[in-house]
Amino acid sequence: MQKPKGTKDIYGSNANLHNLTTNLLEEIVKLFNFSKIETPIFEFKDVFSKTVGQTSEIVSKEMFEFTDKSQRNLVLRPEGTASIMRAVAENKMYAKSLPLKLYYLGPMFRYENPQKGRQRQFTQFGVEIIGAKSPFLDAEVILCATTILKSLGLKYKLKINSLADLKTRKEWFKALTLYFSKFENQLSKTSIKRIKENPMRILDDKVDGKKDFVLSSPKINQFYSQDTKNYFQTLLSFLKVMDIKYEVDYNLVRGLDYYTDTTFEFLPVDSSTSSQSTFIGGGRYDNLLSQFGGPNLSGVGFAIGLERLISNLPPEIVSQSENNEQLSVFVLNLDDQVTKAALAIVYMLRQANIKTDWNFQPTKISKAFDKGAKLGAQIFIIVGPKDIVNNQVVVKFQSKQKLVKIDDLVQYTTSLMKESDEKN
Ligand code: HAM
Repeated sequence: MQKPKGTKDIYGSNANLHNLTTNLLEEIVKLFNFSKIETPIFEFKDVFSKTVGQTSEIVSKEMFEFTDKSQRNLVLRPEGTASIMRAVAENKMYAKSLPLKLYYLGPMFRYENPQKGRQRQFTQFGVEIIGAKSPFLDAEVILCATTILKSLGLKYKLKINSLADLKTRKEWFKALTLYFSKFENQLSKTSIKRIKENPMRILDDKVDGKKDFVLSSPKINQFYSQDTKNYFQTLLSFLKVMDIKYEVDYNLVRGLDYYTDTTFEFLPVDSSTSSQSTFIGGGRYDNLLSQFGGPNLSGVGFAIGLERLISNLPPEIVSQSENNEQLSVFVLNLDDQVTKAALAIVYMLRQANIKTDWNFQPTKISKAFDKGAKLGAQIFIIVGPKDIVNNQVVVKFQSKQKLVKIDDLVQYTTSLMKESDEKN
């Protein structure tokens, strides 16, 4: 039996890398005063189809849909923002002091063509600030993303755009519809349908979006109101003050329909513009909460694709996770008579937060050493029948070997571990 296409088994040092990265991300977002929210992995289909957009690829082609035994239409969540807005509305979380600052971590599912950087099950780590609209909150979210990328030693490109309000977008859509109608014979069937339904989606179509005439279609900034211009300029000038480099890209529409005003993406600095290299996507959404029956409150946030982030990590961070995998102590159980004592020692060391393993079946000393070495242990504790009678064991660390009282074992082992850390 094999795993389904587009999924991954995560284990060993890769699992450590996931833990290390998510721990760091959680530490950072907590500094920004975000608190955790968990929502179900499956939701009613409407949560996404009514908000992410019927014409978006995510809803029209990529949802894992199923009916339960009571014929309810459910989907595996393709993203986190809509679920969170559903939860905020349903639990009336907006009744608390605003803005709400939430973060989430978990698997998302999109039925995409798997390739490097694109899976059918992937992990998102995201943040949302809900309940207020200000370019300074957009800036705060972008600062949070740059802090994360910098602390992981990742070099990035930030692309940013403003998709303005719905009224402005209507005018832009009219211009796009008129423009794309002239190029029908060069567009796919799906894009032709979108000319009238949602012409913006042609800009982020995986194939048509790259065509020259699409890249030079009318730009949204030609339709900005003075308010939109001021809002966007305030955000950009703040980014400048914070020395955050950005590139304004008026073709950046993102794959979800709920965005209004600010949208942004972070890409690895040396990447092409291919969509599967973007590691963070986000933006502002004015009308999402009200679609779930909540008040008319705006939100802003981003989501990181954890696997994409991890595949770009510099070697120093990756080697940290390999070190994390290593065992500190291996206890050598040499005889049936000492197995119980050996296990008690293993337990004592673990209680003292020392990463320890042992050979539960007694073996010859050379075999036990081999096993410990394979697990990466640096310190070996030999439990033999003669020493144990005197409550003693032999501790071996590099070229040193010493008989140690069991009562002193934790202290002595800790001092050896310090010595080993200092040498490294
Ligand atoms: P998104 O751009 O669709 O935005 O996804 C965010 C990130 O998830 C992407 O930049 C990418 O790193 C990762 N990602 C998406 N699809 C895949 C895939 N098939 N395989 C691997 N990684 C993938 C959202 O989902 C929005 N909810 C973000 C947001 C939060 N906007 C406001 N708040």
